[in-house]
Amino acid sequence: MNNSYGDLANLFERLAQLSPEKLQLLELLIKQDRAKLENSLEAQFNGLNSVSQQIQSYKLNWCPLSVSDREPNWSEGSWLILADNQGIGKGLAEKLKSKGDRCVLVFPGSTYERLSENTFTVDPAQPQHFQRLLSENSVAYRGAIHLWNLGETALGDMSLETLSQSQIKGCASVLHLVQALVGSSSSQLPRLWLVTRGAVSVGEKAEPVQFPSAPVWGLGRTIALEHPELQCTCLDLGADGQEIEFLWQQLSLSSRESQIAQRHGKAYGARLGLYDAEKPQNKLSVAENSSYLITGGLGGLGIKLAQWLVQQGARNLVLVGRSSASTSAQSAIAQLEAKGVKVIVLQADISNLDQTNTVLDQIKASLPPLRGIIHAAGVLDDGILTQLDWKRFERVMSVKMGGAWNLHKLTQGLPLDFFVCFSSITSVLGNAGQGNYAAANAFLDGLAYYRRSLGLPSLTVNWGPWGEVGMAASMGNREQTRLSSLGIRPIVPAAGMSILADSIGQSSPEIAVIDVNWAKFLQQFPSGLHPTLLSNLVAQTPSESQGSNAIQSPEAIKQQLQEANLEQRQQILARYLQNLVGQYLGYDPSRPPDPYQSLNELGLDSLTSIQLRNKVKAELQIDLPVAKFMGETNIDLLAKTLQEQFTLGSLLAAPASAELNAEEEEMEEITI
Ligand SMILES: NC(=O)c1ccc[n+]([C@@H]2O[C@H](COP(=O)([O-])OP(=O)(O)OC[C@H]3O[C@@H](n4cnc5c(N)ncnc54)[C@H](OP(=O)(O)O)[C@@H]3O)[C@@H](O)[C@H]2O)c1
Repeated sequence: MNNSYGDLANLFERLAQLSPEKLQLLELLIKQDRAKLENSLEAQFNGLNSVSQQIQSYKLNWCPLSVSDREPNWSEGSWLILADNQGIGKGLAEKLKSKGDRCVLVFPGSTYERLSENTFTVDPAQPQHFQRLLSENSVAYRGAIHLWNLGETALGDMSLETLSQSQIKGCASVLHLVQALVGSSSSQLPRLWLVTRGAVSVGEKAEPVQFPSAPVWGLGRTIALEHPELQCTCLDLGADGQEIEFLWQQLSLSSRESQIAQRHGKAYGARLGLYDAEKPQNKLSVAENSSYLITGGLGGLGIKLAQWLVQQGARNLVLVGRSSASTSAQSAIAQLEAKGVKVIVLQADISNLDQTNTVLDQIKASLPPLRGIIHAAGVLDDGILTQLDWKRFERVMSVKMGGAWNLHKLTQGLPLDFFVCFSSITSVLGNAGQGNYAAANAFLDGLAYYRRSLGLPSLTVNWGPWGEVGMAASMGNREQTRLSSLGIRPIVPAAGMSILADSIGQSSPEIAVIDVNWAKFLQQFPSGLHPTLLSNLVAQTPSESQGSNAIQSPEAIKQQLQEANLEQRQQILARYLQNLVGQYLGYDPSRPPDPYQSLNELGLDSLTSIQLRNKVKAELQIDLPVAKFMGETNIDLLAKTLQEQFTLGSLLAAPASAELNAEEEEMEEITI
């Protein structure tokens, strides 16, 4: 034997010089199973074991909300009620009318029809029906209440067809309503209420979630980010009756609470909190004589998952994707096979029931029993809500939702050790530009609770973006910059896999995993106006001065604007915009973007335009339609438009405050 240590005698000589601890370690290593040792060394080499990143896990908690015992102040208004067929919409309308309000009731149907003066039907799948509804009833609604997710569904008997139909009624209608509302000429948009029943699990014990209406929560959380002006609020009713009274009470409180659940007569608000990992109840079990199925198994994370499962002891893997394996996937598979692992690659569309059935039949015919499933198939089709259509929602939803449902239906009789869905943090936090993806992932979350309530193994992990491989890692520079400006760091695969191993045995069916600097993340919201979901994290997070705020706080800029003349105002606003646009596009602060180059040419897309509009509105309270931030405009022209709007706002406010001052003076005179 000749190696860098020389011959055997030389090797022993060197070993004799090692400390007793090192010798003991060496002895332990020699006693290890050779295959396991090789896997482990290779994993070390591939970075699967070197966990240096400390990532927190999170969980959705529900905290009781205090109720006011005084009768709420009620000012008359108009309401748009997308009414259910269980009578809740009608009952609510009666209650509101008794307070002097006007209600327009809209039912789902197959045509656009005016049934009576204030009663309509519209087709949920037709965006133009919603536009027509709003243009024919163009009043400033105080609230739009969507109740079309309420209804009886026999969950166990659902087919893919009925599941898809339920999404058109419950989710497509919300997309079309939002598009019609923000596209309407109304200067005052209503607060949007999305009402479900049992779509979220509240409390420690997993409730049997009505998963068909879970997606609207993912969509609602995204609406809240893209269109803060709608104050989108998701409200989940319980099974305890008194819904009309509860809804009326929530409508009349002008609370910022945006995710509410009714349980046992009380209101609860969603709060994201740190997940206190317990000692796993069931340790991850991976056996040599069992098979494991990974959908999306040829994708970036799919291949990492395959390597990780082998590292845990798996010897029989099935990787499913629609296309054939890429060169890099082929070489990773070859390495696994060289170790004696049987890897079967199957081309199948997991959203198709027959093809999923064929996959399972093939496993049954040629491999040991299937004991674990990881559903990691997924596609993206990003776009802001005003630019998405239902087809693009269906494309993204069918893989996650259809795939998970097929796998659930076809394997629920098998004694699986784990059934893991790769969900995303977008279903918990929402994400501007990913309304369809957030909805699709929220389905996985709902299904995980439903499966648990049936006593079946299940876990959904709401992952933040991963680094090195996969869909987030392959995003362009602009998107990476956006994530980093939000304080979000990519999950290192080794750290992610280690969390996955610990999560599978936890009692919670849903765990969110994201590496984020919350102080930075919270900066996207105006001070005090973060989503209530993050309230507990805000309380624990020291604020961080960064970005535009570090240069000048919005308060300081507003003060300067008040004191400046028109020309100076425009200059201040141009500097402010340069700063923001530079941040969004990842410019070096010392070289801000050219104020005369069109925003398009600078690289501002529709999503960043929305962010910019929302930030300007939140920080400076200058409200302009998003269209003004898009197209051929540049920073200089936009600064001029903002200056005009600001000046107009100040002029309009001036007489009111002058009157107020006069009134105050008068009062003082009387009081004195
Ligand atoms: N990477 C991340 O940062 C991240 C973060 C959060 C969550 N996730 C989730 O983790 C999972 C894996 O993500 P990834 O980053 O590995 O993405 P990826 O590299 O794009 O892989 C996804 C795989 O899914 C397959 N697929 C898509 N539609 C399918 C269908 N109908 N039937 C069967 N296979 C299908 C794709 O292959 P074909 O197109 O050939 O079918 C692809 O290989 C996804 O569900 C994703 O949503 C990822």
